[in-house]
Amino acid sequence: MPNVGRLRWLHRTTGAAAGLLLAALGTSAFAQRASARPDRFVDSLIARMTLEEKFGQLTQLPGQWGDTGPSVSEGGADEIRRGHVGSILGVHGAAYTRRMQDLALQSRLRIPLVFAHDVIHGFRTIFPVSIAEAASWDPEAVEQAARIAATEATAAGLHWTFAPMVDIARDARWGRIVEGAGEDPYLGSIMAAARVRGFQGTDLSAPNTMLATAKHFVAYGAAEGGRDYNVADVSEVTLRDIYLPPFHAAVDAGARSVMASFNEIAGVPVHASERLIDGVLRAEWGWNGLLVSDWTGVLELIPHGVAADSAVAGALALRAGVDVDMVSRIYFNKLTPLVRSGRVAMRDVDAAVRRVLRVKYELGLFVDPHRYSDTARERRTLLAAEHRAAARDMARKAIVLLRNEGRTLPLSKSLGTIAVIGSLATDARSTNGNWAAAGRPEEAVTVLDGIRRAVPAGTRVVYARGADSATADTSGFAEAVRVAREADAVVLVVGEHQEQSAEANNRAFIGLPGAQEGLVRAVRATGKPIVVVLMAGRPLAISSFADSVPAILNAWYLGTEMGNAVADVLFGDANPSGKLPVSMARTAGQMPLYYNHKHTGRPPVANQKYTSKYIDVPWTPLYPFGHGLSYTTFAYRNLRLSAPTMRLGDTLVVSVDVANTGDRAGAEVVQLYIRDEVGSLTRPVKELRGFRRITLRAGESQTVSFALGAKDLAFHDAALDLVVEPGFFRVFVGTSSEQVEEARFELVDARRCAKRVLRRSAPRFTWPAKARTAAVTCR
Ligand code: BGC
Repeated sequence: MPNVGRLRWLHRTTGAAAGLLLAALGTSAFAQRASARPDRFVDSLIARMTLEEKFGQLTQLPGQWGDTGPSVSEGGADEIRRGHVGSILGVHGAAYTRRMQDLALQSRLRIPLVFAHDVIHGFRTIFPVSIAEAASWDPEAVEQAARIAATEATAAGLHWTFAPMVDIARDARWGRIVEGAGEDPYLGSIMAAARVRGFQGTDLSAPNTMLATAKHFVAYGAAEGGRDYNVADVSEVTLRDIYLPPFHAAVDAGARSVMASFNEIAGVPVHASERLIDGVLRAEWGWNGLLVSDWTGVLELIPHGVAADSAVAGALALRAGVDVDMVSRIYFNKLTPLVRSGRVAMRDVDAAVRRVLRVKYELGLFVDPHRYSDTARERRTLLAAEHRAAARDMARKAIVLLRNEGRTLPLSKSLGTIAVIGSLATDARSTNGNWAAAGRPEEAVTVLDGIRRAVPAGTRVVYARGADSATADTSGFAEAVRVAREADAVVLVVGEHQEQSAEANNRAFIGLPGAQEGLVRAVRATGKPIVVVLMAGRPLAISSFADSVPAILNAWYLGTEMGNAVADVLFGDANPSGKLPVSMARTAGQMPLYYNHKHTGRPPVANQKYTSKYIDVPWTPLYPFGHGLSYTTFAYRNLRLSAPTMRLGDTLVVSVDVANTGDRAGAEVVQLYIRDEVGSLTRPVKELRGFRRITLRAGESQTVSFALGAKDLAFHDAALDLVVEPGFFRVFVGTSSEQVEEARFELVDARRCAKRVLRRSAPRFTWPAKARTAAVTCR
C-alpha cells in the first residue's frame, strides 16, 4: 500500500515544520492519500494517537460572537494547535476557517478540524423555516433548499450542519415545533430523507456537500407540557411507530451524523442511553455514523440525576455511544484517569475516535483540509440570484390558505389604497425566522416591502404598526383604524416575532401574543375587507377571530424572499398550495393534538357526556392536518381499489380522479390515509401513507394512483416487532385529513390469520422483556 506508507510518513513528521510541509504539498500528493482504504488509514492514525489526542478529537469547541463575527473563544487557538479540539461549532467564513485549519495543521498529527454550524433553513439565502417547508409537501423543493444551503455554507468553510431536525411535534406549545416537519411520521420521514439528500448530495467529499445531522434523537418533541428539555414519557410502541421513523428514514437516506436529545425516556436521559444509541441506532439499524451530544448534553447528566459528577457523566455518555462532546469538555478533562484505571474502556474511546476520523476522511479533509474554505467561491455563491429565486419559489409553496370567504383573495392590483398593518410586516429578523445562520435582516424582503414592490405605481400602500407581539401597548390602534378606513383592503400581519418561537420559547397560551387580538378586533370593526397574514413558528390558536375575518394566510417565517412570496400569493401571481403539516388547535388546552390519534373506548360524540371530549371547546382542531385551500377548486371522484382483497406480498393500487373545477391553474396535494380496523394493539384513526402533489390547469383532470404494500400497513406489536396483521383496512383519499373519500379492503393471508413480521427488533435491546405470544388472535 504505497499510499498508506506515504501517509505514515506525513503523519510521523511533527510540529510547525510539518504544517508548512503539508501546506507546501500539492493537491496530487493529497489525492494519493485519498485512495488509501479508509479503515486502514483511520486505524493507522489511531495507533499513533496519545489518549489526549484521542479525547481532543472527541471535543467540540463552541465559537462566540465578536465584533468581527464569530470566532473561537480565548485560548481556543492554542487548544487547536495542541490537538485538543476535533471540531468547532458556530464559526464560519472561508478566510477565518482557513486560518483555524492552519492552526490544526500545526498539531502533532495534523488532523484537520471539522467546522459545524446550525444551517437549518438556509445559510445566507434564508429559506422558509422547516415547518413551513414541510407545508409545501414538496420533497424535491425541500431537497433543493437543503442543497442550496449546503452550497452556500460549504463555500463559507463549513462541513457539518446540525440539521435536519426530524422531531415529531404534537404539541404546539413547544417552541421547537418550528424546526421540524410537524406531527406526522410519514411526512416527517419523507422530509427528513429529502433534507439529508440535499445537504449530503451523492458524494460527501465534494466541496459543496456537507454532513447532515438527524436530531434530536429521540422523542425530544414529546417534552411534557410542551416545555423544552422536559421529560418525554412515551411508550415503546409510540417511540417506534411515531418518534423513531423519521430518524430511520434519515439514516436510510445516508445521514452520517445524529445528535442526542436533551430529554430522558423512561428514566434514562438519551445521552446515557446505551439501549437507544448503541442498541437501536447502531445495532438494530446498522448505522455506523457519528453521534454528537447536544450542547452540554453530557454535563447535563448531572442535573438529570444519573451521574454524581462530571467524570461519571462522561463515562456514561461515552459508554452509551456519544462520540462527540459538544461544549462540556468532559471527555477531554475528566476521562483520562478513568481509562487508566480501566473504568472506561479504551475500546469505547477508540470506537468514538474512529467514527470522528472516518467522517473527516469521507469529507475529503485528509486530501485537502482547505477545500471548503474558498474565498472566491464564497463571494460568488452567497445570496446568488438563483438561490433567491429558489427561496421565493419555496416560500410561495409553503404558504397555507386557511380561509377565503367570498373569494376575498386574490386581491386586485388595481385597488386604490391598501393598508398594511402590524409590526411584523416590517420585522426583517422575524421574516428570516430563528436559526437564520448567516442570514442578514437587511437582505430580507419584509411583507410591507413585498407588497410595495408588487403593486403598480397608482396604488397607495399605507402602513400602520398597530400593535406588536411582545407588549400590551394599544396606543397604535387609533392610527391602524384610521389607515384601515382609508383603504380598499387591509392586510393585517399578526403572529409571533421570531424570539417567541424556537428553542426554549415555549408558550402556555398559543393565541396571538401582546395586544394583537385587540388589534384584529379594532380593525375588523371598520368593516373593510381584511386579509390576515399569520407570521409564526407554530400553529397558532386563532379561533377568536378565524370565523369573522374573510381571508387568512398562514405564512410562517419564509426567509429572505418572504415579502415577495406573500405578495405573489396576495395578488394571485402564485396560487397557494400549502397544506398544514400540523393540526391547528382552537386553544392550547387541547394539547397535545394530532390527527393520527387513537379511538379510545369512548370516542367523542357530541351530546353524549361520558365520551372523550371537553365541556368547553370542541375536541376537533380548528383546521385539520393536511388542510389548505387554493384559489381554484378540486373535485375528487371515483375512488377505486385494484381489488377488494390484498394478499401479503401483493400491491394494492388505490386510484382517484382529481379535477380542477375552478377557473385557474393550481396545485393540489392529494393525500392517502389508511386505518387498520382491528389490531392486536389499538391503531390510529387515520395514518398518512401517501401523497402526491399535482398541478392541473382549469378544467383539467388527472388520475392519481398510489401503490399500497405490506410495509404501509405495518406497525410495532407488543413484542416490538414490525408486523402486518390480516383484516379489514379503510382507505381515505382527499384534500385534507378530514375531507376524504373512503373505500375498504381486506388483507388476507394464505393462513388467513397469521401476522407477518417484517422486521424483528434486536432482542438484546428490547424493553420491557418481550411478551411473545404463540399466535395472534384471528380477526
Ligand atoms: C440545540 C441544538 C443545536 C445546538 C448547537 C442546542 O441548544 O438544542 O439543536 O444544534 O444547540 O447550536
